[in-house]
Amino acid sequence: MESHERTKPLLEVLNGNRQATPPVWLMRQAGRYLPEYRAIRQGVAGFLDLCFTPELAAEVTLQPIRRFGFDGAILFSDILLVPHALGQRVTFDVGEGPRLDPVADAAAVGGLRSDLGIDRLAPVYETIRLVKPKLPEQVTFLGFCGAPWTVATYMVAGRGTDDQGPARRFAYRDPDGFAELIDLVTAASAEYLAGQLNAGVDAVQIFDSWSGVLPPDEFRRWCIEPVGRLIAAVRARIPDAKIIGFPRGAGVLLAGYAESVPVDAIGLDWTVDRRFVREHVPPTVAVQGNLDPLALLVGGAALDRSVDQVLASFADRPFIFNLGHGIHPETPIEHVERMLRRVRGAKN
Ligand code: CP3
Repeated sequence: MESHERTKPLLEVLNGNRQATPPVWLMRQAGRYLPEYRAIRQGVAGFLDLCFTPELAAEVTLQPIRRFGFDGAILFSDILLVPHALGQRVTFDVGEGPRLDPVADAAAVGGLRSDLGIDRLAPVYETIRLVKPKLPEQVTFLGFCGAPWTVATYMVAGRGTDDQGPARRFAYRDPDGFAELIDLVTAASAEYLAGQLNAGVDAVQIFDSWSGVLPPDEFRRWCIEPVGRLIAAVRARIPDAKIIGFPRGAGVLLAGYAESVPVDAIGLDWTVDRRFVREHVPPTVAVQGNLDPLALLVGGAALDRSVDQVLASFADRPFIFNLGHGIHPETPIEHVERMLRRVRGAKN
């Protein structure tokens, strides 16, 4: 019994073992929908100060675990710490989102550091060391990074864009120059994920938030291949590294992703047709997702129905319950509680 108590259900799923009650966590579970997050956020000048102050980042990581008892705790940080470590100027303006000095061409790529400025990311590893002993034993600790393509879209445009046009244009105009940027981010991200795993996270997630804008050939070149190389580089250092891939918006290209990228689980966004997954992603591959964040925001019958549909679709395979993208800051806390009760078996 003792060993049973010590198991981590989410990690079990990543090992291919289906759990009768699926483990659950939420993307962006540490964030603005929580009053305790807003209180801490108010006390720091900028978002990056929060990411780079280990005591505060650790506290924010633990907040949703204390409140909801999720099965997974995700490190509080951001995917844009990697461009920052590569020497790009990164700022977050309140209400504006991220701003970076654009890396618009091959010459600008050449101006970045060729090594990951590991010293700059040391506070993140310190956050991990602070969180680790404070987590309940059954909670799986997740680190993360952005996928090379998604990180590159911000590096090239200098901000979030609707269609990731600047990165797509760079890639068409100068594929070799763009490949250099992708390779640089891939190498840095591998070092960063290995650093997180060595500092104590149990598994990592690779967020490819903008993979959905790429046509099939480009999806293979800028998403599947770099993520494959990133995973190989992490596993060259840590052979049994557990990895979740999240190719958001991939649609039918999910089938090729599942076939070619050796992840332990695939994150599904909320637009994914679950029947397609059942038919095209082998049942031994764990999946994670994919409740519509707006169903959680609205709550009530729409939430209950959506939760039930997700649960029913993946009841027979290794499965982690999650949203199909990050939780909206306006989401009422009671809706999260209602969702958890339903996932964990009480029919209200
Ligand atoms: O709880 C968690 O999920 C852990 C922390 C986390 C954050 N960002 C904190 C954050 C994680 C895993 C991320 C990932 C991230 N960051 C992604 C991939 C996932 C996705 O959402 O698609 C991306 C694309 C980013 C880049 C980024 N960071 C943007 C575009 C923004 C601004 C938009 C926004 O939501 O405000 C951020 C800021 C950010 N990262 C916030 C948080 C809690 C909000 C800023 C604040 O609190 O002041």
